[in-house]
Amino acid sequence: MPSHGLNPKFAPAVKILFLNGPNLNLLGTREPEVYGRETLQDIEAKVRERAKQLGAEIEFRQSNLEGELVAWIQEAKGKSEAIVLNAAAYTHTSVALRDAISAVGIPTIEIHLSNVHAREEFRHKSVIAPVCKGQILGFGPLSYVLAVEASVNVIRSRK
Ligand code: DQA
Repeated sequence: MPSHGLNPKFAPAVKILFLNGPNLNLLGTREPEVYGRETLQDIEAKVRERAKQLGAEIEFRQSNLEGELVAWIQEAKGKSEAIVLNAAAYTHTSVALRDAISAVGIPTIEIHLSNVHAREEFRHKSVIAPVCKGQILGFGPLSYVLAVEASVNVIRSRK
């Protein structure tokens, strides 16, 4: 079977769900020395631009509630082919998110704006990492854009 690679001309659209956890709605004004000045809407626009180039369909959501994020992961089954998750603080605590990722079996990419390993020790541990396909972190908004590319590759290499 021919490989579609990253050329959207020859490949069906892939569906990627971007989920953002608590306090990421405050990007732009929240600790700009750590997270920069771009808002979540600015980042979403960059994601959509890259997705268009690669032939990907994007859903982009944010919640401050752990249970809502769990529900969205569950609902993604049969709809989304990859999940990109910036679980924010829940990265370090949420067994519920980890279990949801395992339960749906959708390849999930963990992302962060900041390099969590260069920060406080409690951020070094990710509860979700063992059930994720991989991690992209430390590149600011570029982490999100790189995750579009990683997702498209993961999905198309499975088809
Ligand atoms: C973050 C890193 C987390 O430790 C933190 O709780 C966040 C944002 C990041 O994108 O760098 O809220 O996920």
